[in-house]
Formats: sequence, C-alpha cells, structure tokens
Amino acid sequence: MIKNIVILGIQWGDEGKGKIVDLLSKKSNLVVRYQGGNNAGHTLLVDGEKTILHLIPSCVLYKNVIAVLGNNVVVSLKDLLSEIKLLKNKKIFIKNRLILSHSLSLIFDYHISLDKVREGKNIKQSIGTTNKGIGPVYEDKIARRAIRISDLYDISYFKKLLKKNVDYYNFQLFHFGHKEKVSYKKILDKSIFQFNQVKHMIHDVSDLLNYKIQNQEKIIFEGAQGSLLDIDHGTYPYVSSSNSTIGGVFTGTGIGIKKIDYILGVTKVYSTRVGNGPFPTEVYDDIDNYFSTIGKEFGSTTGRKRRTGWLDLVLLKRMININSLSGLCLTKLDVLDNLEEIKICVKYLNKLTQKEFSYYPSSKKDWENVIPVYKIFRGWKDCTQGLKDFKKLPKNAKKYIDFIKKFTNISIDLISTGPERDQIIFINHDLKNFISNKN
Ligand code: GDP
Ligand code: IMO
Ligand code: MG
Repeated sequence: MIKNIVILGIQWGDEGKGKIVDLLSKKSNLVVRYQGGNNAGHTLLVDGEKTILHLIPSCVLYKNVIAVLGNNVVVSLKDLLSEIKLLKNKKIFIKNRLILSHSLSLIFDYHISLDKVREGKNIKQSIGTTNKGIGPVYEDKIARRAIRISDLYDISYFKKLLKKNVDYYNFQLFHFGHKEKVSYKKILDKSIFQFNQVKHMIHDVSDLLNYKIQNQEKIIFEGAQGSLLDIDHGTYPYVSSSNSTIGGVFTGTGIGIKKIDYILGVTKVYSTRVGNGPFPTEVYDDIDNYFSTIGKEFGSTTGRKRRTGWLDLVLLKRMININSLSGLCLTKLDVLDNLEEIKICVKYLNKLTQKEFSYYPSSKKDWENVIPVYKIFRGWKDCTQGLKDFKKLPKNAKKYIDFIKKFTNISIDLISTGPERDQIIFINHDLKNFISNKN
C-alpha cells in the first residue's frame, strides 16, 4: 500500500502540481514542501473557486491535513503572513496546522532588492527570475551566512547576524548602483514582530516526519518549480536555485530515501516556461497564441506570459530517469482538443553538423544549435474536458498518450482533463485507493 508520495514537476514548472497535490491529499495526514520559496504559484480550482498558493502546501482546503515547510524552503516571513491572511479572508484557517522547520532560511528585503537590481533592465540578458530573492538567499545558505528562523530565538545573536548581512548587502547593492541603503533597524524591528507571530509553528521537521512515518501516517511531498529548473540538472544557468529533482526531498526534509513508496512526475502534454533559457520545442505566432489562450498560460506568481511549445520527449525521458519516477501524470490534455495536428519531439538535430542525437545538450553551443525532430499526430478535434474514463477518450487522444507511454517506457497513472479537482482520469488504482482511506 502506498503511504508516502512525492509529487514533482518534470518540465520548467507550472505543470499543474498544485491541482494534483490538492486531489491526492484528501486523506493524507501531512503535505510537505521541501524546496523553493514563494517563487512558486500553485493553483487549486474547486467548484469554480480559485486558490493560488505560493509558499503554503496545496492541502489547505482539507481541514485535517497538516502543512509543513521543510528545512530547504526559503521563507519571507512578511509574505508568509500575508498568505496566511489571504487564506483567512477566504475562511481557510491554517495558522494552527502549519509547521515550519527550525532550520529553514529566511528571505529579507535585501535579498529581494539584490535579485531585482541584478536582473536589471536588460530583460533579454537576465534569467527572468520572479524577483522574490530566491537566488540571493540560497547563495547565503551555501556561503554559510544565511539567517535561519531559529536564530531569532536569541535576539542578541540575531542582531549580530543581521548587522553583518545588512552591511554585506549594502556593499553589494551599492556596487549595482542601488541608491537606497537597507535599514538594519527597520528589518530588525519588523523581523522580531513577524517572528513572534510564527514562533509557535517551529519544529524539528526531520524528527516529526520520521515519527509520523513510523506511525504509518500518509505524507505527500510537494515539489515546487520543475526538474528542468533544478540547480544541478536543469538548463543551467537558466534555473532556480534549489534542487527541484528528487534528491531535494531528502536534503530538504531530513527523511531517508527508503521512506518513499511512490514518485509521481507531473507534465503537461505540451510545454511552457517562464523567463529566459533554452526551449528547443518553443512555438510562436498562431500556435503560441492557441496555447496561451486555450491553456491560459500566464504565470500564477508574476502574471507574465509563459512561453509555449510542444512536448519534448528527449527532456522528459531524462527527467523520468533522474527522478526515478514510479509513474506519470499528464495534465492539460483538454488544451489540445481543437488542434488539427499535434507535434511531439522525439530527438534532436544539430544545426551545424546535421547529425541527429537523443541526449541532453550540455554546452551553450549545443543548446543553441538544437533543432527538434518531430513526430506528427492527427488531432482529435473533440472535447475531452472533464472526462473521467480513459475508455471515453477520442481514438487519436489515446494514440497520442499511448505513444508517450511506449516511448518513455513508464506507466501513465493519471490524466488531467481540466483545471477542476474532479476533472481527472485515474489509471493507477493504488492512487485512487490513496485518496479513499486515511492510514
Ligand atoms: P503548478 O505550479 O505546477 O501548480 O501549476 P500552476 O498552477 O502554476 O499552473 C497550472 C495551471 O493549469 C493552473 O491554472 C491550473 O488551474 C491549470 N490546470 C491544471 N490542470 C489542468 C488541466 O488538466 N486542464 C486545464 N485546462 N488546466 C489545468
Ligand atoms: P511553480 O512551483 C515556473 C523560474 C523563473 C525564472 C527561474 C529563476 O509554480 O512551478 P527564481 O525567482 O526562482 O530565481 O527564478 O525560475 N521559476 C518558475 N517558473 N514555475 C515556477 O514555480 C517557478 N519558480 C521559478 O521564472 O525563469
Ligand atoms: Mg506554478
């Protein structure tokens, strides 16, 4: 029986993880975010009511499920408190069922300022970050100067750390031409005030999770971003700054690899990415308009238009391996409903050498010279939205899905046919059972 599941994105984020975590967490005991920060935007849609979560795990709509932020989640206390308040306004009360790891690193205003000035005005040359301070805070962590939430228990120690960091950031900001100095005093006062509001949520998350697992409780580990944005395995340097592939679960929570029963990779049946960086199957003009409009491809965090493209099986296969996936969840099948033809990338061609290849391009030059080689499918021109039974899918949709399954050699366990929670086809019965009983 499946007890503990990881749900992670295997493209460049926004695959629909939030919807799937919401769906599968109905009878879970805990849902745990293990990396990233409020650069994420996870959308839940239930009976027409939309909830967008940035930091808090996607289980908030179930009153009995505990939400946890692990040690590698980076947190702006100001934004966390705003998110809690926004939820409260929607009558979703999370304050007493949210747990924060004692060793998570904090995002301060100076991280955000540095993120912004470094991205600068030359949008084309930049990474295209979400401007939430993610890069700078992870840099601090690796450089061993980050401020962890538990550092605020000892105010005099916190003061020392903060002073050192504010000086360091003022130096950096000055270098980038940022006129205004960051005020140590303002940050100090605000941080203490914010800390007092969340103090009761702080725990040793590793201890807690290991105890819960021992007690046979059901846990979902919710990924943020996507595997192609992973700091090690993604399209570097156009990535985020954490490990969004499977390893991040273990380093980001303090549980061991043997505790996971099932790993679900979520992918759209086409592709999108926000921000800059390689995207071999990117499309423009009419098809881009189609995906943007029908797929509503605008970022949930920044509102930016997402770049769009066809599904890339070279990249998908790589991420299936890296994450050692148990199964796939395909999302947004309904978005393809009105297309005459659907392309799927099965290998690449090097523009310079004219040689075909099927591996992950490694250098800048490789990426620049990649041309996708497509297999073309006839569209189904029929409505799949809301279908819940695989047998009812149009013949050409089944053919398309079957091809993905055979090519990647992995089972397709879930298919999402719309943004609403119940617009889903369960293929794997163990996953269906996962939401039918607690423990
Ligand atoms: P996440 O970051 O992976 O959680 O994904 P986002 O929430 O940023 O973006 C996914 C978007 O697609 C959201 O607006 C969802 O409501 C929507 N969505 C999820 N699954 C489906 C689906 O199967 N069909 C359609 N049409 N929309 C979907
Ligand atoms: P979810 O969890 C899509 C992208 C940014 C940028 C790059 C680095 O909703 O799938 P950062 O602010 O992290 O330093 O930006 O990563 N990015 C995302 N793209 N979905 C996300 O999260 C993302 N989180 C970061 O657009 O290209
Ligand atoms: Mg998103």
